[in-house]
Amino acid sequence: FHVDWDAAAAEKGGFPSFMAKEIHDQPQAVADTLLGRTDATGRLVLDEMKLDESVLRSIDKIVVVACGTAAYAGQVAKYAVEHWCRIPCEVELAHEFRYRDPVVDQNTLVVAISQSGETMDTIMAVRHAREQGARVLAICNTNGSTIPRESDAALYTHAGPEIAVASTKAFLAQITACYLLGLYLAQLRGNKFADEVGDVLAQLHEMPAKVQEVLDRLEEVRALARSMADTRSVLFLGRHVGFPVAMEGALKLKELAYIHAEGFAAGELKHGPIALVEEGQPVFVVVPSPRGRDSLHAKIVSNIQEIRARGARTIAIAEDGDEAVEPYADTVLRVPQSSTLLSPLLSVVPLQVFACELATAKGLDVDQPRNLAKSVTVE
Ligand code: G6P
Repeated sequence: FHVDWDAAAAEKGGFPSFMAKEIHDQPQAVADTLLGRTDATGRLVLDEMKLDESVLRSIDKIVVVACGTAAYAGQVAKYAVEHWCRIPCEVELAHEFRYRDPVVDQNTLVVAISQSGETMDTIMAVRHAREQGARVLAICNTNGSTIPRESDAALYTHAGPEIAVASTKAFLAQITACYLLGLYLAQLRGNKFADEVGDVLAQLHEMPAKVQEVLDRLEEVRALARSMADTRSVLFLGRHVGFPVAMEGALKLKELAYIHAEGFAAGELKHGPIALVEEGQPVFVVVPSPRGRDSLHAKIVSNIQEIRARGARTIAIAEDGDEAVEPYADTVLRVPQSSTLLSPLLSVVPLQVFACELATAKGLDVDQPRNLAKSVTVE
């Protein structure tokens, strides 16, 4: 009796690649990052960060430093943290931060986001921040790695080991940890938003099931990706939290499928990028919830109309029930309803799957793209 045993295949849990597995691990990554961080009364408890409450009360500015996908998690955090905590929040690429004279002091909380905890550019930014007296909090997926060791405090993501070079589940876990940080600061500082923390936390706990719903209806995006294997350029548009999602969608496509891709803030279209739109140009548009803020949704619908009028092939990522996009989008990829600030956890998933499936259709190794390293330990 002979059994064929392939260790790598076993680790992939029946998926064709680590990337495919990790994309499907995302509900768990979000759930595990939330796990055990609220007490019986529903209050957030993040004592594990070991940052003095008096320090957290006194900070008057947050600066997120990170590279690659982690930096886009930081950009999502900015919208949430500023809204919930009313603390100014900047996001900067770690390698840019460390070579300038940033205005930071002991009242600045520098948040270094890193899956590996070993990205040299981010390590150097942490050192640069500490030299100037800033407090540094690491948001990291790897226990005991350099970045949390060199920081004043750490908040761990619990995505589990991420093997594929391009980041997917760590990204969702990083965004989740940033939400926890923002809500915790609002709770602790007792600001205007503090009463709503419980509601947002409850919504956050519903997100793993919603991410699972997105995963359960991927056939359309897979078919779309296979039909686009010859595409040479793809654009991604978003507004508000949809902007970093658009950037991440473009990054995934570059990394995995070696296709020229760019993400833009949709409002910037008319200031330049619209010149790129010609007949047949595929454009993904991350559509904000029509139930969300003011005119955000209406603005993006008119952006879709503008590019469509110039011949773009429009692919909208939109909420269930948002009928307004239907007349203008060639394809609508649906995600469950959620609050605008939490929506990146859902809207990025079809973009990850699109890149992974398209690269697979091109016969590429999605786990180990050319020229890239999982952890860049040189500057
Ligand atoms: C590399 C990886 C990216 C990752 C970036 C930051 O470039 O290929 O997927 O986003 O590093 O990595 P970190 O471990 O610091 O999150």
